[in-house]
Amino acid sequence: MNIVNYGKQTILKDDISVVEKVLESDFLTTGPKVQEFEFALCKYTGAKYCVVVSNGTAALHLSSMVLLNKNDKVLTTPNSFLATSNSILYVEAKPIFVDIKEDGNIDLELCEEELKKDSSIKAIYAVHFSGNPVNQEKLEYLKKTYDIKILEDCAHSLGASFNEIKAGSCKNSDISIFSFHPVKNITTGEGGAITTNSKEIYEKLLSLRNHGIIKTQTMKPWEYEMQDLGFNYRLTDIQCALGISQLKKLDNFLEKRYTISKRYDKFFEKLENIKPLYPFRKESAYHLYIVRVDFRKFSISKEELFNKLRDKNIGIQLHYMPINKQPFYKSLGYGDEYTPQMDRYYEEALSLPIFPSLSEEKQNYVINSLKGLLYA
Ligand SMILES: Cc1ncc(COP(=O)(O)O)c(C=O)c1O
Repeated sequence: MNIVNYGKQTILKDDISVVEKVLESDFLTTGPKVQEFEFALCKYTGAKYCVVVSNGTAALHLSSMVLLNKNDKVLTTPNSFLATSNSILYVEAKPIFVDIKEDGNIDLELCEEELKKDSSIKAIYAVHFSGNPVNQEKLEYLKKTYDIKILEDCAHSLGASFNEIKAGSCKNSDISIFSFHPVKNITTGEGGAITTNSKEIYEKLLSLRNHGIIKTQTMKPWEYEMQDLGFNYRLTDIQCALGISQLKKLDNFLEKRYTISKRYDKFFEKLENIKPLYPFRKESAYHLYIVRVDFRKFSISKEELFNKLRDKNIGIQLHYMPINKQPFYKSLGYGDEYTPQMDRYYEEALSLPIFPSLSEEKQNYVINSLKGLLYA
């Protein structure tokens, strides 16, 4: 069996032909496809404004530049890719790691306890982990009650919704960010986007994406002004054309992810001491399919299981190691937070392969290999 990765892009012939067209056109970058992709993302998410950037980390970096000041305290999750909290550090602000709930998402009740204790906390960075949206009503309540900034990290959750509110609509947040890395729900190779409903934030982001430069109607034709220290975080027209084409396929990709998740769910229903991270939820975008295994009940250890599945060419993964326990974070004084749910989750979680083109044969191979090793 070929390697079955945990995630993989789905690129079809029409994706390739739109990219070819751009390659033959006048603009490889800063051309018309950029705004076209931004409009398409606004339409899909329901947000007013969108700025596409070179990757999800760049999206987080620019967002933190706009939302935070030096030394601002920000509540965030240990259960994410490093980029979420790194972006807080990029602007010399201070992440505070809050424990997660059983579904892997940040515990917003605990966030409220922190907000009650410390009125100087400025923001929450929430990740819709695995594609499963955090409770938007609670987010709305926290934003209004404590007057804080909210960033939604939607890197996993393009296509997700909560009570019909699409991830990235920013209904209850200042900013949402996306990643279009190949394992994500749609891809542009590398790529990212920021959505917002604030014109002020939008204009600032546009400038920061392009070296902090602005141009106005009153300037001479050759003039531009650098107002901030920005970056070149632009996404090319080549990538945007791919993104537009991929976005059209997103709902179809999601259906495939649901079908695979339901199939996995059905299989695990029959087993003991291993269960899906959460019961089937159509509101999740199922970027990841995670099971929790109570290894205390099995004779095989997590490490042995990982190694043996990888020997069988199954790209099993773990999302995520707790960020606060990384050596760099430890060097900053993190690592001893009381996070019993995260600790338990880290012992139990496994990400199984899920992507639109994962065949039933390969799904069966994953399931049977896992079952064979656990119940040998
Ligand atoms: C939750 C989360 N946030 C941010 C990122 C960063 O995105 P990128 O890899 O496009 O920089 C990722 C990527 O894996 C992610 O999973």
